[in-house]
Order: sequence, then C-alpha cells, then structure tokens
Amino acid sequence: MAYIVTENCILCKYTDCVEVCPVDCFYEGPNMLVIHPDECIDCALCEPECPADAIIHEDELTDSQQPFYQLNETLAELWPNICERKDALPDADSWNGEADKLKRLRKE
Ligand code: SF4
Ligand code: F3S
Repeated sequence: MAYIVTENCILCKYTDCVEVCPVDCFYEGPNMLVIHPDECIDCALCEPECPADAIIHEDELTDSQQPFYQLNETLAELWPNICERKDALPDADSWNGEADKLKRLRKE
C-alpha cells in the first residue's frame, strides 16, 4: 500500500512532504512531485504535511484521482529523487485549489 501525490500538487510543489519521508521515495518533476508506490512504506507521515492536501492513500483515491497511481509509478522512474525541502513554485498559493491542473503537468 502506498500514498500517492495527486493533481493539486501541480504548479504548487511546496515540498514540505519530502522532509518527513523516512525512505526518501519522492521524485521531482518541473512542476510536481510524485511518490514511488513500490518504495513507499505507507507510514502516513507526509500526508498532513502537504499544504495543498495533495497526498492521498491509494485506497482513498476518488475515481478522477485513480490515474494518478499510474502517473506516480511511471514518473518516479523518470524523475530524480528529492529529499530536501526547497522553495515552493512562485505562484503556489494562487494555484492551490485550482481545478483542471493535470493539463498543465510538465513531464520534462
Ligand atoms: Fe514517504 Fe511515508 Fe509518505 Fe510513503 S507515506 S511517501 S513512506 S512519508
Ligand atoms: Fe506537492 Fe504537497 Fe509535497 S504540494 S510537493 S505533495 S507538500
């Protein structure tokens, strides 16, 4: 079982989550992070740290969030690991909670 990063991370990327992960299983793209589901130990420490409430347990993904499991799995293999917090993206607060951000996801 794993936690998954979902749509509201896109264009926010606060990175508070990476500081608490005991197994360093976050991976960083240009405007989103993902969790490697095979590396996550289901500890739940990151979930409350996200200011965008973007981290969801795989069992609690809504139907519209289901594609994010595959996205996390795929992109975690492509993107570099991140284990230290950095500044959020410049307009993170204004993007937090906006709808339809998936089309703005940058994979490279
Ligand atoms: Fe890391 Fe735990 Fe969050 Fe999984 S649930 S990504 S192991 S902090
Ligand atoms: Fe994204 Fe939340 Fe982490 S916005 S980078 S999942 S703290």
